[in-house]
Amino acid sequence: MSAYLRAMKILMVCHGNFCRSPLAQGILEDKTKKAGLTWEVDSAGTKAYRPGLPPHPLSQEVAKRYGIDITNKKGRNFRKEDIDYFDKIYVMDEENYNEVKRICGKNRSTEKVDFLLNEIYPGENESVPDPWFGDEEDFDAAFKLIEKACERIVVSLLKEDDERANGVAF
Ligand code: 4NP
Repeated sequence: MSAYLRAMKILMVCHGNFCRSPLAQGILEDKTKKAGLTWEVDSAGTKAYRPGLPPHPLSQEVAKRYGIDITNKKGRNFRKEDIDYFDKIYVMDEENYNEVKRICGKNRSTEKVDFLLNEIYPGENESVPDPWFGDEEDFDAAFKLIEKACERIVVSLLKEDDERANGVAF
């Protein structure tokens, strides 16, 4: 595997960096670590109301239920420099997508930005519903959706790498 693929830098973005993106960060970190990849995974909010503070208690709880610890994550705002630093930026919904583009400005290349759920529903620009006003069930549903997309990210990459190694034409 190329050094680039082995050590990619991925940013997960939602509105508050409180409910969805810390879950996405924790889940992808867990999956990449288990796959032997040394990816840097981070998360940010287009409007992080609680910079420096941990994720929503229900995000922490649902993650813990599935064996993932996100208690040490700290909220932060998305900054325009993130577009240069990260290899790929996944957003949870259309508002996040538009805000990331607005913050980066017209001159920045934003082709690195994509909807997370395009990994499982290609080209559909589907949203991960925000559990912010919901209950435990909504947080659980968000976890499962995000988990499926993160699984696809890792599986597609490993499959692509395997095909390259075996000389399969694309
Ligand atoms: P998130 O959810 O974007 O998944 O973190 C929200 C968290 C906080 C707020 C809105 C959405 N808020 O308005 O404080």
